[in-house]
Amino acid sequence: MDLGLKGKKAFVGGSSRGLGFATARILAEEGCQVVLNGRDSEKLAQAVSKISSDTGEKAFSVVGDAADPDQPKKLIQEAAGILGGLDLIVTNTGGPPAGEFESFDEKTWQRAIDLAFMSHVRIINNALPYLKESSHASVVTVTSYSVKQPIPNLVLSNSIRSATIGLTKTLALELGSEGIRFNSILPGWTETERVVEIMQHKAEVNKSTVEEEIKKITAASPLGRMGTPDEIGRAAVFLLSPAASYITGVMLTVDGGMYKGTM
Ligand SMILES: NC(=O)c1ccc[n+]([C@@H]2O[C@H](COP(=O)([O-])OP(=O)(O)OC[C@H]3O[C@@H](n4cnc5c(N)ncnc54)[C@H](OP(=O)(O)O)[C@@H]3O)[C@@H](O)[C@H]2O)c1
Repeated sequence: MDLGLKGKKAFVGGSSRGLGFATARILAEEGCQVVLNGRDSEKLAQAVSKISSDTGEKAFSVVGDAADPDQPKKLIQEAAGILGGLDLIVTNTGGPPAGEFESFDEKTWQRAIDLAFMSHVRIINNALPYLKESSHASVVTVTSYSVKQPIPNLVLSNSIRSATIGLTKTLALELGSEGIRFNSILPGWTETERVVEIMQHKAEVNKSTVEEEIKKITAASPLGRMGTPDEIGRAAVFLLSPAASYITGVMLTVDGGMYKGTM
């Protein structure tokens, strides 16, 4: 099946590593022109060069913190300037800190809201004029399966990401008539660098191994393992692509069956 992505212009947030990087690399493999984003210019330069050498497509980057209220406008304008427009947007950043309800003060909640919710609002808001000019506009927000089944010790993520789901569905309803599709990817546990770091920390605390910690988490998974970044990236790229032209307002859980509900 041809996904129809050749020549499409894409901005992928939080893409110097992890799920964002995998999504950007697969988009480039499909012939898209991709602009990556992250806060660290050196890490971004390495990611851009890896994508270019892996895929033969020239990739680009814009540096900036998507959680900073003033940055998304600059990031999107720069990305659109580099590519001469935008067709595809992936809103993604790192996650808010782990912890239980009583461990967070008001300031931490506000920072987490800027990171895990307002970054999506601001990126999409600034990208809309370009998306309205595109004949194949599509947006994927990256959230988490925790909006369906809260994950212990992640109260910030469990709470705030639900707002991004509400945003994604509302935009699908409001802007479908403009030909812009909005969907969300809800990843389950996926073996990115960040998750490996978390498992290393757990192993130190519990005096166990990374493999043992991963086994504990994946015991509840029908597939018995974590996902790979590419497995999340391929789902996101399909939703972004013209091959998914009749899919909008969908919250796609990509978690190896970890979520046990039927809806
Ligand atoms: N991996 C999983 O199992 C999983 C499951 C469910 C949901 N998620 C969520 O999916 C998202 C991606 O996860 P991941 O595992 O790929 O994370 P990751 O490995 O930490 O990668 C995050 C990427 O985003 C960039 N980034 C972080 N904060 C940013 C900001 N404020 N502005 C711009 N770029 C930023 C990072 O680069 P810099 O740090 O250099 O900026 C990095 O490139 C996170 O929100 C995570 O909570 C992950």
